[in-house]
Amino acid sequence: MKKIAIIGFGVVGSGVYEIIRKNKDALTKKSGEEIDVKKILDIRDFSDHKESHLFTKDFNDLLNDGEIEIVVETMGGIKFAYEYTKALLESGKSVVTSNKELVATHGEEFFRIAKEKNVRYLYEASVGGGIPVIRPLACDVSANEVVNVSGILNGTTNYILTKMFKENDSFENALKNAQELGYAEKDPTADVDGHDACRKIAILMSLVTGRKIECEDINTKGIRNVSAEDVTYAAAIGCTIKLIGCGFVENGKVSASVEPMLIPASHPLSSVEDVFNAVTVKGNMVDTLMFYGRGAGMLPTASAVVGDVIDIVRNGEYNPYYSWGDADKEKIIPYEDINTKFFVRIEEAQKEKIASIFPDVEIIKGVSDYGFVSPLMSVKELDEKLTAAGGYISRIRLFR
Ligand code: HSE
Repeated sequence: MKKIAIIGFGVVGSGVYEIIRKNKDALTKKSGEEIDVKKILDIRDFSDHKESHLFTKDFNDLLNDGEIEIVVETMGGIKFAYEYTKALLESGKSVVTSNKELVATHGEEFFRIAKEKNVRYLYEASVGGGIPVIRPLACDVSANEVVNVSGILNGTTNYILTKMFKENDSFENALKNAQELGYAEKDPTADVDGHDACRKIAILMSLVTGRKIECEDINTKGIRNVSAEDVTYAAAIGCTIKLIGCGFVENGKVSASVEPMLIPASHPLSSVEDVFNAVTVKGNMVDTLMFYGRGAGMLPTASAVVGDVIDIVRNGEYNPYYSWGDADKEKIIPYEDINTKFFVRIEEAQKEKIASIFPDVEIIKGVSDYGFVSPLMSVKELDEKLTAAGGYISRIRLFR
């Protein structure tokens, strides 16, 4: 019998408990051993819970319990989650988490401790909810140099954009619905402003490159400024708009960003709707793979957590494939050096100047202004040209 503990009995933590109770026989069959929840740490009162005896408010009850070998951390946030995870790993327990902020910020330190103590620190649920993407990257695509990872990594914003685009729903109403459905972070600005997706692409690119990719090196823009007019233009050029986290590896250097992007309607990412997430991975041998599924929500996310628990029950020894080392700033390509294209909206008065600076572009009319697709050039060069043309109303990057 493997005894586990859960820290944080919120949406995901209670989902983990439910899966372990409901799928008990399947779990035993798959892991070769019965898995049972011995303790649950949460500062809130659960005296009405049918298994109230499992609950404690004292972290030491978990830390000092020699029977508990695996701890699930689903509390979120950094401060306590960091202290608890560190102490648990140092005491020789394996830890499974859905906490992307913690993995993106302190993953490299936890991997070092896990190696020293020969235990595991796993985080499949931290990216893409229920979608298996960490394990395929760590194991199945090992034969490749991964050159690109791109994806719709935030369910809340994808849900909001879908409602806005398909049902003309307001941003506020769609966000409220997403919160009610348990998709959004405690502070939904982390979703809306792209920070949640930033942490996720940081994790994916760190795993791919073996070096920590820091969030501060990922140019991050959310969906607050996506307007009805942008939607009209997107449709006019045969695209949808999605919040995309992407990372490229070129000549050993890495660029990563999070921003709304125009996706051609023919691309599979454009049909990823509601809370669904999708991640494409391009390897130099396998070409492009796509992983798709529910990117948020109680049971999908808990499913990924319990999958990690089963993995550890099968083999609890440290596994280097899931880890990365310290950051190497020299290997980062700044956003302004990325070569890309944008759809740029301009005032009518700028048309002539734009036509002389970008002689080959087609300028199209929107509802109240004009727009064009910029030629392939660095962000810096585009910025300089647009400044010379008197600026712009807005611009959205084209997906490639
Ligand atoms: N708030 C996140 C999302 C939850 O909406 O995708 C899953 O990480």
